[in-house]
Amino acid sequence: MDSLQKKFLRLKGEKKAVVLAHNYQRREIQEVADYVGDSLGLSYAAQKAQGEVILFCGVHFMAETAKIVNPEKKVLMPDLHAGCSLADSCPADKLRAYLEKNPGLYVVSYVNCTAAVKALSDVICTSGNAERIVQRVPADREILFLPDRNLGDWVMQKTGRKMRLWDGDCYVHMEFTAASIDRIRKEHPEAPVVAHPECTRAVRALADEVCSTEKMVGYCRSSPAKEFIVVTEEGMLHRLRREMPDKVFIAGPTDHCACSECRYMKMNTLEKAVLALENLSPEVDLSAEIIDRAKTPIARMLEWSRN
Ligand code: 13P
Ligand code: SF4
Repeated sequence: MDSLQKKFLRLKGEKKAVVLAHNYQRREIQEVADYVGDSLGLSYAAQKAQGEVILFCGVHFMAETAKIVNPEKKVLMPDLHAGCSLADSCPADKLRAYLEKNPGLYVVSYVNCTAAVKALSDVICTSGNAERIVQRVPADREILFLPDRNLGDWVMQKTGRKMRLWDGDCYVHMEFTAASIDRIRKEHPEAPVVAHPECTRAVRALADEVCSTEKMVGYCRSSPAKEFIVVTEEGMLHRLRREMPDKVFIAGPTDHCACSECRYMKMNTLEKAVLALENLSPEVDLSAEIIDRAKTPIARMLEWSRN
């Protein structure tokens, strides 16, 4: 452990902070977090966090979700500008206008959206529970699934349920192509390919397993294989290597580089995390009205995915 990590842990204790980190965070942040996981696990961890402060090392919509499920806490981020191209693809005013023109739709929103979009939704889902959530929507309702058309397409494939899809995508997962994944598969014919559902259908078709980042950990742990090709953001490899040091994890390449990085997730650094604890800032700020409206679809998700 280096001296900055030691300083961080000392401050974390002094400020009674709970540190939550997404699987795509930098290795040095994952190593000092109280909990590292996917969006679904982070929502549960935020809901039951006991400290006075939550330091959320992930992107803005995830920290907003933490604030919505645990509004009494001060929710900090290392960098408030850590956004998400997918969340940006569905602005709340555009969604509101669409729903006014198309009344009666049941809105299932992937958690990668702003709090204002969540406030307009009927239920939220994550990549870890999307299939289950969609199956729970009353059969007589037409679903609008947003904002990721690739995740929506994967859920339609899995459930057989037709949905209207918002035309959004994640720029990181769009960088993987069938050609780039086929090439690495040929180089490592024994390695199962594990891909995130935000990848295109052509890439998903080449995968042995398509799942959320948390389920990737379970899949690789229970598989007898010794090496795996991991088709998602490169931070995931730190988590996998830390938990399974005896296995080999190969980053899925794109057509341009050996792995894919999310520029937003990488805005968070340990230096900024230390400053956030020192200054108890920057803080995620949401109006009471948005918190109130967004908490119902999130609570519905947490309840539907529990039983
Ligand atoms: P997970 O919930 O699977 O970790 O995905 C979050 C995300 O942002 C994927 O790009
Ligand atoms: Fe958003 Fe994609 Fe980054 Fe995930 S990887 S936070 S979906 S831009």
